[in-house]
Amino acid sequence: MKKVITYGTFDYFHYGHFMLLKRAADLGDSLIVGLSSDEFNTKKNKQSLLSFDKRKEVLESFNFIDLIITENSWEQKIGDIKNHNIDILFMGSDWSMKFDYLKKYCDIVYVPRTPKISTSLIKKIL
Ligand code: CTP
Repeated sequence: MKKVITYGTFDYFHYGHFMLLKRAADLGDSLIVGLSSDEFNTKKNKQSLLSFDKRKEVLESFNFIDLIITENSWEQKIGDIKNHNIDILFMGSDWSMKFDYLKKYCDIVYVPRTPKISTSLIKKIL
């Protein structure tokens, strides 16, 4: 049983998010998503257009996501990995190397982002 975890805000859910999550799910048997809380987004200087509950509702509609947990801090990852027996932390390439310090707890996989789409771009257009 291979367990995968990924983290993000997933605001104004788009095709790049879908591809990232689908690839993460395909890599293992179980996918957990750490969804950034509105408070954590504020700390990251990220203002999401949709509230945590709405962003969570979107993710809940995908049957390849097994569990959604709340991401409240940068520091919680070690605890999450241990508590959920995670095998792989899966992130887009914008996070390349940033989570390498977690290599002693699980495998880290960074994948290329889907080009030409991001929440920032959608916000700009809106
Ligand atoms: N992601 C991706 N391809 C994209 C956009 C995002 O693979 N085109 C991935 C990110 O690398 C991350 C996850 O989706 O692992 C969640 O990213 P998030 O920051 O929520 O979305 P962005 O669209 O990158 O948001 P922003 O523009 O606000 O940074």
